Amino acid sequence: MVDKTEFLARYGKWGIVAGASEGIGATYAEELASRGLNLILVARRAELLRSLASNLSTKYSVETKILALDLSRSDAFEQIAQSTNDLEIGLLVYNAAFSAIGPFLERPVDDHIKEINTNAFTPLNLIYLFAENMLARGRGGILLMSSLSAFQGSAYISTYAATKAFNIVLAEGLWEEWRERGVDVLVCVSGAVKTPNYVASEPEQTGGLGDMTINPDQVVSEALNALGKGPYVIPGRMNRISSFVMRHLLPRKMTVKFMGRILRGMYVK
Ligand SMILES: NC(=O)c1ccc[n+]([C@@H]2O[C@H](COP(=O)([O-])OP(=O)(O)OC[C@H]3O[C@@H](n4cnc5c(N)ncnc54)[C@H](OP(=O)(O)O)[C@@H]3O)[C@@H](O)[C@H]2O)c1
Repeated sequence: MVDKTEFLARYGKWGIVAGASEGIGATYAEELASRGLNLILVARRAELLRSLASNLSTKYSVETKILALDLSRSDAFEQIAQSTNDLEIGLLVYNAAFSAIGPFLERPVDDHIKEINTNAFTPLNLIYLFAENMLARGRGGILLMSSLSAFQGSAYISTYAATKAFNIVLAEGLWEEWRERGVDVLVCVSGAVKTPNYVASEPEQTGGLGDMTINPDQVVSEALNALGKGPYVIPGRMNRISSFVMRHLLPRKMTVKFMGRILRGMYVK
């Protein structure tokens, strides 16, 4: 059972969810609103944001603001800075991501750059923007979303996986820098999740591992439960077991080949 008063004292008054319009981000927004946090919801599709914001305000009596904005733009963090400069941001959840699936050279280089901008450049700038005040207050939280594909090179999503590795290493370093200063940093390293985007990517099979996909609810609940407890969390028991085997028992070369086989099965038609 979550102690809402304690949660708000640590992460209030406002939370920002970047990538909130659907899937895991919308689930984060719902769970945070249910704990009484006022929310700034960011994504590109204004209509989805408007409807989510209105539902959450009615259902949980929290304040909400929406910001329809493309997080791959180099000035995205500046727009967020302007829209939030009078608000006390206690929690940043960076959930948005772009994944250019397919053989590396078959995607325009702009797609690879867009992955870097959406998944690494903008979250880095947002952390820089909000962390200073959090540290001055001696409380706050930063939660980044990463992927099991980031624990090793992952063929056919090489740049995506590399940006997600950036998130893991960045979060771990900042967790160590700030853990005794009241600011909790966490990276959630997720396996496959049944989100609209994942389903739309039409994965065909998972390399003979069976269906290991989990639901957004499970990701969000395990991630928020882990916030304040350590630098990273892997939601789902099967994901924890398979990642343990791949990271600690198999030679790295073999995990890269194994991942490649899974991803070829899923995405190379
Ligand atoms: N789903 C999975 O299987 C899986 C597995 C491992 C890790 N993850 C990670 O979990 C997170 C969420 O995954 P998901 O499948 O729910 O993601 P998603 O569909 O790619 O995006 C989630 C949210 O981000 C927003 N978004 C994406 N690009 C944006 C941009 N350029 N500017 C503004 N908003 C943007 C989307 O809204 P708009 O389209 O309205 O902008 C949506 O609300 C990601 O960080 C992903 O890497 C997912």
